[in-house]
Amino acid sequence: MNIPIDWNNTKEWDLYFEENQVVIKDIANYEIEDSLRYFSAVANRKVWVSGCGLELSPWLFSYLNCEVLATDISKTAIKFQSELLKKNPFKLLNQLQPVLDEIDIEYQTKFIEPQIKVADFRNESPNELFDVVLNNNAIQGLSNSDIEKAAKVFFNATEKGGIMISSTMNVQGEKRTEIENAYVRSGYFIANLEAEQWYRKKLEDTGILYVMILGNPMVPQWDQYQNKGGKEQEEKDKEILRSFRTEYQERLQVNYEKDKETYRPEIDKLAYIIYNTG
Ligand SMILES: C[S@@+](CC[C@H](N)C(=O)[O-])C[C@H]1O[C@@H](n2cnc3c(N)ncnc32)[C@H](O)[C@@H]1O
Repeated sequence: MNIPIDWNNTKEWDLYFEENQVVIKDIANYEIEDSLRYFSAVANRKVWVSGCGLELSPWLFSYLNCEVLATDISKTAIKFQSELLKKNPFKLLNQLQPVLDEIDIEYQTKFIEPQIKVADFRNESPNELFDVVLNNNAIQGLSNSDIEKAAKVFFNATEKGGIMISSTMNVQGEKRTEIENAYVRSGYFIANLEAEQWYRKKLEDTGILYVMILGNPMVPQWDQYQNKGGKEQEEKDKEILRSFRTEYQERLQVNYEKDKETYRPEIDKLAYIIYNTG
């Protein structure tokens, strides 16, 4: 079963997770290594994993001195999270000592009982504050008005000077701008926003099919030029996409200087919207 089309349909999420169960004993070392590397910055902090699904992060954080709240609208996902917690990862973590050394996590063999519960992050506030709020691929399918509601809940649950990390899968163009604007309207600070949005609009307005790879617009090889100008047109389009780069970099510099003046460390709450491809 594929991911639900209607993200508000809780039953569909339950069914999706029932059909795509992760068997705990089959969790591979590389999955744990990946999670550890990706989330190493969160060790020892108070963290809310919103829309956690079947992520391993709430489990690992709980064993890495974090105070964890993990929530999801799907009770099947929350049941999985509760079962996972019974599995003590220390044996595994010790086998992964090279990874722990590499990412330089300080951890003690101390387990902090996490809170794991079913909750709708559009309107259920945790009523406590977190250093880090995470949302991994769990808002992009919502309507813009629901994203707006969720952004407010996240902002109110973020400690002063805290951060929101929102990763999105393949979200480009207008939807990405909408997510950023909702976070900013809720009160979050996003670095370099004006320059990034200017660049994105310029690229979008060309009408050329592109994907962002490591911050650069690339023309994908999807046969879109077949019967539409071929290689010659492709080269012209690449040139157009490249043509905004210098002005973008100048704008980034200006934006950076402006952010330095307006950003208030330990007061402003930062939001990072990470672009993942998948
Ligand atoms: C694409 S999955 C991502 C799951 C997980 N974060 C991951 O990266 O593997 C989206 C998740 O968001 C959850 N979700 C969707 N709407 C939600 C809401 N309003 N409140 C809480 N969770 C929600 C779904 O149940 C699902 O677990």
